[in-house]
Amino acid sequence: MAAEYERHRPEYPEEALRWAADQLGLEAGARVLDIGAGTGKLTRGLVALGFDVVAVEPGAPMLAQLREAVPEAEGHEAPAESIPLPDGNVDAAFAGQAFHWFDPERALPELHRVIRPGGGLGLLWNWWDERDPLQAELGVLIGYAGHQPYRDDELPGLPWFREVGRTVVESAEESTPDALVGQLATTSAFLTAEPEEREDVLRSVHDMACRYGKRFPLPRFTYAFVFARADA
Ligand SMILES: C[S@@+](CC[C@H](N)C(=O)[O-])C[C@H]1O[C@@H](n2cnc3c(N)ncnc32)[C@H](O)[C@@H]1O
Repeated sequence: MAAEYERHRPEYPEEALRWAADQLGLEAGARVLDIGAGTGKLTRGLVALGFDVVAVEPGAPMLAQLREAVPEAEGHEAPAESIPLPDGNVDAAFAGQAFHWFDPERALPELHRVIRPGGGLGLLWNWWDERDPLQAELGVLIGYAGHQPYRDDELPGLPWFREVGRTVVESAEESTPDALVGQLATTSAFLTAEPEEREDVLRSVHDMACRYGKRFPLPRFTYAFVFARADA
């Protein structure tokens, strides 16, 4: 599944990464952590901005993909709740599509520990754009209609972090029925579904997407948040 993830999941728009980096006052050469880095979709965007990136990911197959795709990054196999870095080791940390997987009670003090005083945290989520008729149909079909990828009351807060800004960036890429099905098949809801149910729903998605053509634009929202490390 790590290879499928690498093949089908989207990267992050440069505009969103630049916005977060500016808010955090980061300059080229800054040392940044990508936590829950997966196969390195966010890592490569951070490397492209000129940062010295350390990627931490608990899943060995995902990390193996990351090491292949982004050899410039330093990789460690570990969870957000126990980061194998010294205190104050990074100027900032980022998490893409991952913060909602962490245990905040343990991950937030840990992130606070490894980020230097004056540094901060950027969280990003790519998400569906239900103004697009295809994605509105899809949302009803697979159940994300009206949902958001994060919960406001579960975002980082004091005593560890303080929100300093948030934005939404719009982007689009071209997709196909197969690519859409491939992307969905890597999401946790489908990975944990019974095989028969999973195949049924993915077939319906494919049929529905075919009505929009062999290729179609897939607009997307990227939600980006920036938090300052709260200093004592
Ligand atoms: C949806 S993927 C996102 C991966 C990558 N950041 C991206 O943007 O494509 C979520 C990642 O979070 C990782 N993850 C899950 N629980 C975690 C934890 N407690 N600490 C760190 N990473 C975790 C998973 O192994 C997975 O690679």
